Amino acid sequence: MRDAQATAAALGDRLLAWYDRHAREMPWRIGPMERAAGAHPDPYRVWLSEVMLQQTTVAAVRDYFRRFTERWPTVTALAAAEDAEVMAEWAGLGYYARARNLLKCARAVASAHGGRFPATAAALRALPGIGPYTAAAVAAIAFDEPAVVVDGNVERVVARLNCVQTPLPAAKPELVALAAALTPQRRPGDHAQAMMDLGATVCTPRNPACGQCPLGDFCQARAVGFAAELPRRAPKPDKPTRYGIAYLARRADGAWLLERRPERGLLGGMLGWPGTDWSADPEPAPPIAADWRDPGVEVRHSFTHFHLRLALRVADVPTRILPRRGAFLPPEAFRPADLPTVMRKAFDLARSAFPAIEPKPESVFYANQGRTQEEAEHDPGR
Ligand code: ADE
Repeated sequence: MRDAQATAAALGDRLLAWYDRHAREMPWRIGPMERAAGAHPDPYRVWLSEVMLQQTTVAAVRDYFRRFTERWPTVTALAAAEDAEVMAEWAGLGYYARARNLLKCARAVASAHGGRFPATAAALRALPGIGPYTAAAVAAIAFDEPAVVVDGNVERVVARLNCVQTPLPAAKPELVALAAALTPQRRPGDHAQAMMDLGATVCTPRNPACGQCPLGDFCQARAVGFAAELPRRAPKPDKPTRYGIAYLARRADGAWLLERRPERGLLGGMLGWPGTDWSADPEPAPPIAADWRDPGVEVRHSFTHFHLRLALRVADVPTRILPRRGAFLPPEAFRPADLPTVMRKAFDLARSAFPAIEPKPESVFYANQGRTQEEAEHDPGR
């Protein structure tokens, strides 16, 4: 037992010495030198970065993080934002439930904690949308609590150090216990970040740079020559393919027919093109009567649990048409970048099927039993 503790301490020292020289620069990070000089990370920035980094790479997150923190520099500012603004800034990062939970959490911190993040993993865990990983990461990095931080990088480092053969996900509890045994009382925030940096830059999934690893002497997988094969993973079931149709209608004045998706469910709360459900055999569901054309291209997009093949239908429609669902947004009211990736792909692919708009006198089309949109709004019960 004493031996194991001494080994963990020696390994931890080696890791921190490596981190002091090789820590990656990140816009939300207080590097080891600044930290030693007494600087403290801003919990808001740490929390925001950790939520963004779930399922996403550091490279993909940087610009989003910069835009978010320029627009909403504090958690109180974010809490006061409109849902749609936040969803639009999040567009393209994926896993949109994270953005909805981000707002819920910001509002809880603003209203129940006076705009200050609680300082322990246990209290952070009680906030909406904060799971065990985020609570531990924020507690360790922002508040130097010796919380056990285990993401995919840490799982890989620990599996290799201990030559764990059990495949993931069954190995998770064992890997957490092994990571806990390495977590030091001294500089736990830097330790957590060092483990993640080591996993991202040296102990990489393929072709790990074992020759440059500060922990090489401690690595049991390296000693037997199969670091690169760990961690093992149980084979994933094949993803099914679902099908759908998205309808892109452009009005003669250049407005596009879009709808906000229901809060619950995939891409919840995001803007999208109206369409069918996504299933094995969807029923056509045009949102307005129009001369729908098939542009002959389809969107292919993969979600976590299925592949999607989305056929497109496009139509030019007159200005005064009443949609059965959604609303026409003028081009200045939405940016393609505000759409989730699958919907932006649809826009990019369908665009060439629309001719340039010629300025011409407004044409009038009476849909919905011959009523115009204005009439329907003034007399909704008819
Ligand atoms: N990946 C997720 N969070 C990280 C962090 N704080 N440092 C390095 N890589 C990370």
